Amino acid sequence: MIEIERARPTDRMAIEGLLAANGLPEAGLEFALGAALVARGDAGIVGFAAVEIYGSDGLLRSVCVEPDHRGIGLGRRLVEQAEALARQSGVDELFLLTETAAEWFPRLGYRPGRRESAPAPLQTSPEFTGACPIGAALLRKRLSRSAIVA
Ligand SMILES: CC(C)(COP(=O)(O)OP(=O)(O)OC[C@H]1O[C@@H](n2cnc3c(N)ncnc32)[C@H](O)[C@@H]1OP(=O)(O)O)[C@@H](O)C(=O)NCCC(=O)NCCS
Repeated sequence: MIEIERARPTDRMAIEGLLAANGLPEAGLEFALGAALVARGDAGIVGFAAVEIYGSDGLLRSVCVEPDHRGIGLGRRLVEQAEALARQSGVDELFLLTETAAEWFPRLGYRPGRRESAPAPLQTSPEFTGACPIGAALLRKRLSRSAIVA
């Protein structure tokens, strides 16, 4: 049984290992640990997602699932619960940058946009200023008010 739950401070090393193994940047992770979720199974952490919150805007980041556990809906569950957490924190719209999953996020309601269209505070985040190459795709989603809290 794999549960999606809030990340704990003691999860930090496992999360960093998961991101590194999946080729995702750690830069700025500390800004997202207040709204971070893990997928936790008997063998430990097998998935992660987090939101950096900038007022009513959020940066969804570091969504990943260990290869052995992909394709069973964990990615979707992580994103849906991250959205609920963001909504609970007052976020109206989520943005993300990705080099690897621009075809996947539209399944969850995200739509492509121009990188320059992201709100100014996000433009100063580590993902925008360095960690995600200029070629990374920007996607965005306005959150529904009925999002269920994780
Ligand atoms: C993207 C990712 C989080 C999806 O996790 P997951 O748990 O497999 O997702 P789900 O089980 O909810 O969805 C699986 C479906 O999405 C598809 N899918 C998974 N990753 C995809 C990708 N990168 N691009 C397009 N489709 C993808 C699968 O083929 C599967 O399709 P099916 O339902 O038609 O069989 C996972 O592949 C991953 O960790 N990738 C590496 C890290 C990454 O790219 N993260 C996103 C950048 S922030």
